[in-house]
Amino acid sequence: MIARAAEPVIRVDGVTVGFGDRVVLDTLSLDVEKGEILGFVGGSGSGKSVLLRTIIGLLPKRAGTIEVFGRDLDRLDDGERQAIQRRWGVLFQHGALFSSLTARQNVEFAMREHLHLPEQLMNSVAATKLAMVGLSARDAGKLPSELSGGMTKRVALARALALDPEILFLDEPTSGLDPISAADFDALIRTLQQTLGLTVFMVTHDLESLHTVCDRVAVLADGKIAALGTIAAMLQSEHRWVKSYFRGRRAKLLERRISGGPTG
Ligand SMILES: Nc1ncnc2c1ncn2[C@@H]1O[C@H](COP(=O)(O)OP(=O)(O)OP(=O)(O)O)[C@@H](O)[C@H]1O
Ligand SMILES: [Mg+2]
Repeated sequence: MIARAAEPVIRVDGVTVGFGDRVVLDTLSLDVEKGEILGFVGGSGSGKSVLLRTIIGLLPKRAGTIEVFGRDLDRLDDGERQAIQRRWGVLFQHGALFSSLTARQNVEFAMREHLHLPEQLMNSVAATKLAMVGLSARDAGKLPSELSGGMTKRVALARALALDPEILFLDEPTSGLDPISAADFDALIRTLQQTLGLTVFMVTHDLESLHTVCDRVAVLADGKIAALGTIAAMLQSEHRWVKSYFRGRRAKLLERRISGGPTG
C-alpha cells in the first residue's frame, strides 16, 4: 500500500459563495491540516468571515464541496451533522455573549443543548473551561456587562471549548485588545492548541498573531487563495496585496518593535 499523508481535517474544494450578483468566494480551495494553526487573512470585506460561516454551514454555497474529518458536509443526515458540529467550536467575530447570563452560564449554554449532564457536573465542567482560559471563579459569576473586552474574549473562547472540540474556528479573536492582552491571548491559543491537540482556523488582521502563533497563513484576495504557506513564504511573495501587507509600513514597525529598535 502506498503511504498517504494524513487527510486534511478541513477540505474546501472549489467553493463559490455570492450574494445577489456579488460573488464573494470564487471556486476557492483550501486544506487545513490536522493539528495546525492556520491564519486566514485578507482585506476587510474580502470574505474571510463568509468562508468561516460557509464551512460551519451558516451560509449556503453555490458550488463546491466542503469536507470535515473526511466527510462531505452535504451528504450527512441530521444526526451525522449534529455529531460533526459537536466536534468544532466557534468564536464569532461579533460573538456576543448572552447579556442576561453569567460567564459560567454562557459556557453552560452549549452543554445544555448537546449534553445531558447533571447540573452540578455541568457547573464544574464550565468552571474548569473558564479556568483553562485564565478566568477565576469570581469572574465566572460576572455578567457580560461586568467584563472587560479581554475577559469577554476569554469567555467566548471558553464557550467555544465547551464541548471539547477538535477544531476551533476563531474570527478575529484579538481584535479590540491592546497589544499586550492580544499577545497573552495568542499565547493562550497556542497553549490550548498544543495541550488539547486542536486544529485551529483563525481569521485575523493581527500581524503579530500571524508571526507568533500561526503555522501557516492563507491569504484571501479576489475570492480565491492568493498565497498559502509559512510566514517566511509570505515575506517572499510578490503578490501585490501580500507584499504590501507583510512588508508594508505596519509590518516594518512591528519588526522594529519585536527586535527592540526605534519605532519612529
Ligand atoms: N449574509 C450576508 N448577506 C449579504 N452579504 C453578505 C453577507 N455576509 C457577508 N456579506 C458580504 O460579503 C462580503 C464579505 O464579508 P465578510 O464579512 O466575509 O468580510 P471579512 O473579510 O470578514 O471582513 P472584515 O475583515 O471586515 O471582518 C462583504 O461585502 C459583505 O457585505
Ligand atoms: Mg470578518
